[in-house]
Amino acid sequence: MKIGISTRDVLKTSSDVLMFVTEEDVKKLNSRIVPGKFLLEAINANNFKGKKHTSIVVPVTTESFSKVVLVGLGKRKDVTLEIIRRSAHVGLRVFSSLKTKSFATMAPRLKIKHAKMVRAISDGLRLSNYEFDKYMTKEESKFFRIGTVMIHVPTETTELKQVLEFSSVSCNATNFARELQTDDADIVNPEYLVKVAKSVAKIGGMRIRVLNKAALKRAGLNLMLGVGQGSRFNSSLIIIEYKGDPKSKELVALVGKGITYDTGGLDIKTRGMGEMNMDMSGSAIVLATIGAISKLGFKKNVIAVAPVVENAVGVNSYKPGSVIKSYSGKTVEIGNTDAEGRLILADAMSYVIDKYKPTRVLDVATLTGSIMVALGYDYAGLFSTDSEVTELLRASEVTGELVWRMPLPDDYLEFMKSKKADLNNISTYPNHFAGSITASMFLKEFVGDVPWTHLDIAGTGMGKKRNFYWPQFGTGYGVRLLLEWLR
Ligand code: BES
Ligand code: ZN
Ligand code: ZN
Repeated sequence: MKIGISTRDVLKTSSDVLMFVTEEDVKKLNSRIVPGKFLLEAINANNFKGKKHTSIVVPVTTESFSKVVLVGLGKRKDVTLEIIRRSAHVGLRVFSSLKTKSFATMAPRLKIKHAKMVRAISDGLRLSNYEFDKYMTKEESKFFRIGTVMIHVPTETTELKQVLEFSSVSCNATNFARELQTDDADIVNPEYLVKVAKSVAKIGGMRIRVLNKAALKRAGLNLMLGVGQGSRFNSSLIIIEYKGDPKSKELVALVGKGITYDTGGLDIKTRGMGEMNMDMSGSAIVLATIGAISKLGFKKNVIAVAPVVENAVGVNSYKPGSVIKSYSGKTVEIGNTDAEGRLILADAMSYVIDKYKPTRVLDVATLTGSIMVALGYDYAGLFSTDSEVTELLRASEVTGELVWRMPLPDDYLEFMKSKKADLNNISTYPNHFAGSITASMFLKEFVGDVPWTHLDIAGTGMGKKRNFYWPQFGTGYGVRLLLEWLR
């Protein structure tokens, strides 16, 4: 989709217009302006009050117009960036259902800064203009994508152009991640993700290292190899390096869980397996993010790390009860082969910390079902030892990708101890409560003193049903958050 800005009055130059209106706007709509007359008629006929996320279509029978879609924002004082993003989604979906290829819009007049509103409109439109429909064979079942939107602005500033560029790159990266997350596990397998990573690196002019099975064996990443040994696909550790500030010693490592399918292993899943093609969401997020970082030319040093592994059932599968020696030297008893995410992340993080010496590490993973019990589908669990984590919380407020901070209590580490090894990959906590916390305490054992943040996106990464601009299936949650945090 192309989103442009123009100082020409969209109401005079476009035939189809999306108008955002507050409840107050609706009350004082003036019938003397064109198309005010038509708007007023339609508002009265539909009893439209401008309540948030409601909409009406107004056919306008003058030469220059064909229709106006009004989307309510609710009460003026309560309008937030999230309401604007959602309203942009509501408007776009109306035009899509009417098979309108292009339309024009403008930011509403509110107390919020104009550039912020333009970004929210653009983000809402771009994130909404996506549907996973590649397997729909009937044209009418496919989502009608909007081609062009013009946003009317008072002046064309460089700030606005940058805002639109940032929105375009970050939302395209989000949609790129969604597609990878949602597609089938026999297509998006570990070897496929290596190919994707190579193309991301090539397009961005970045160095890439791929530790294949032999290299993983030589280096001793046995937790990763253990999880992958039941699969017909070869496991790999992907590392892409972006050097935007060669003089600086600062280096952020973004690590993403890349389980391309999680059967549970020999502790086979008895429910919910059908969505485990999305268990590589973390990897998709970090690959999409570093691709966007290279496009935007951030002045930062970042590496994206993706351990890509399939947790399959087979004669070679790793076994419950086995003890595996990790890259760090710590031994781990496999209490449950379905707690595999923490195993591959433990090896990937301790390897990268050892070899690349990042100054901060952030991992993103569909790690536990427990995080959904605790926080539902809208908040990711955030666990952090990083004193500057408030910057990530601020980024979350900007992008609307919600996070909630969870504790990392040292006392809980006790529950991850094993009777025959240093650690167990499942906890002995009574009733298996606090599962996302004990999982994080396990990870913490492998990051040492490096400031570290862990995002558990099991709930937010995989949509259960559409929620405004968040689609069902892979949501791309985290891409815009990480970009806003790192920009
Ligand atoms: N990939 C799952 C977590 C998950 C569950 C993500 C549901 C999205 C939806 C993870 O590998 C897993 O199976 N975790 C287990 C851990 C348990 C065996 C200790 C869980 O959360 O139940
Ligand atoms: Zn699992
Ligand atoms: Zn998993």
